[in-house]
Amino acid sequence: MNGLTTVILAAGEGKRMRSRQPKVLHELCGRPLISYSLRVARAVGDQIVLIVGPDADGVRAAAGDGVTIVEQRERLGTGHAVLQARAHCEDSAGPILVLPSDVPLLLAETIERLVSHHTTTGAAATVLTAVVDRPQGYGRVLRQGGRVKRIVEDRDATDDEKKVGEINTSVYCFDSRRLWPALDHVRPENDQGEYYLTDVIGPLAKAGGRIEAIALEDPEEALGVNDRKQLAVLAAIQRRRILDRHMLAGVTILDPASTYVDDTVTIGADTVIYPNVIIDVASEIGSECVIGAGCQIRATRLGDRVQLKPYCVLTESVIERGAVMGPFCHLRPNSHVGENCEIGNFIELKKTKIGRKSKAHHVGYLGDTTIGEGANIGAGTITCNYDGVAKHPTVIGDGAFVGTNSSLVAPLTIGKGAYVAAGSVITKDVPEDALAVERAPQVVKEGWAARFFAAKRARKPKE
Ligand code: UD1
Ligand code: CA
Repeated sequence: MNGLTTVILAAGEGKRMRSRQPKVLHELCGRPLISYSLRVARAVGDQIVLIVGPDADGVRAAAGDGVTIVEQRERLGTGHAVLQARAHCEDSAGPILVLPSDVPLLLAETIERLVSHHTTTGAAATVLTAVVDRPQGYGRVLRQGGRVKRIVEDRDATDDEKKVGEINTSVYCFDSRRLWPALDHVRPENDQGEYYLTDVIGPLAKAGGRIEAIALEDPEEALGVNDRKQLAVLAAIQRRRILDRHMLAGVTILDPASTYVDDTVTIGADTVIYPNVIIDVASEIGSECVIGAGCQIRATRLGDRVQLKPYCVLTESVIERGAVMGPFCHLRPNSHVGENCEIGNFIELKKTKIGRKSKAHHVGYLGDTTIGEGANIGAGTITCNYDGVAKHPTVIGDGAFVGTNSSLVAPLTIGKGAYVAAGSVITKDVPEDALAVERAPQVVKEGWAARFFAAKRARKPKE
């Protein structure tokens, strides 16, 4: 909306989190709390002023571009926090939207409704409220003849006032010309000795200003995070919202109750997700993929039609379309699996790039390795990439065949179409199309086993 300034209050200490980091950096479904308020602010407003506390470098970094950051040096309350934004708002006569930074379930549509109600009614202030069953801890909205008269904090409320079920969400829209003078008059005369933003409502109403209130249709949106128990409750709600969004967009989720998908993840249509799956840190999942039970996918991109059999753990990697993975494969960072590859059970990859249609079906470790197209890596192949001091690369050419139980001692190059015999310890480069075999020659002694057992049995004492 034109001329709207949004002030986000994020200087609170968040003592109840009992944490070394500021409350607003705690994550809800993979995004810091502050990013939820910023997302809403960006959706509705022009100018954003973010009030942060001292030592808030992390919060500044999380805020990103296009945000004016103002430090509230002393935490003297929510009214004092809003006052810090004054110098950045006085040029504009537009309305001021105040958002808390610990109420992450608020929807942009709701805030748009609040702002447009505020501007059409010409109110001095419009408060977003919620009617809840358990209002304990929240500020109560006190009305007279239906109109909002003031807000009283839980700890300052009388027993009668505490019975009021309509709470202040800490989201407001103000007429800026009336807000600043009213804030000047707020005094820290309350149980906490703080300058409360809520205390501007009474005087504005008394001065004849119209105080509007919009009640949330779904009071869940007003839930705040003050401690880690609440963080978990809100995460469960947000998680369900994320899954609903994906299901409505065509993703099948067999068991939403056991599926964890971060807010930063994208998933293509017709992908099927089995139970107990975790997908986080901005992973991108293509269309028509199958994500088997128990997979954990972190910061990883899957092309279309990738199949993950159960219990794959994938981190910071890319899997191109049509590849089939697992069960039980482990991709450590910077791995890249090409189109239609088959990477089977108990394969670990680290910093390894595999070309199209190559296969490593059973048990192995491939680290710091580049593999061409159509290669076959036999069961139990290990790249010995670490000499105890440094890591070394292995290169395996297109169409190469590495036999079962080979140890490939890096640095090493195996040429295109070469063949490594099973059980070899390969320490020298293998040219294209060559055979490399490194094993003791096999000895065969005819009749030896029969003679051996006969002699043993003859010597065994009778029982
Ligand atoms: C506040 C409201 C209460 C409302 C509730 C809704 C006041 C006095 N009370 O209470 O009516 O029902 O939110 O969740 O406003 N902050 C600062 N600087 C400060 C103090 C706080 O920036 O000096 C920020 C916090 O980071 C937070 C917000 O203001 O984002 C609200 O502060 P908090 O201490 O959580 O207030 P509540 O007790 O929850
Ligand atoms: Ca709060």
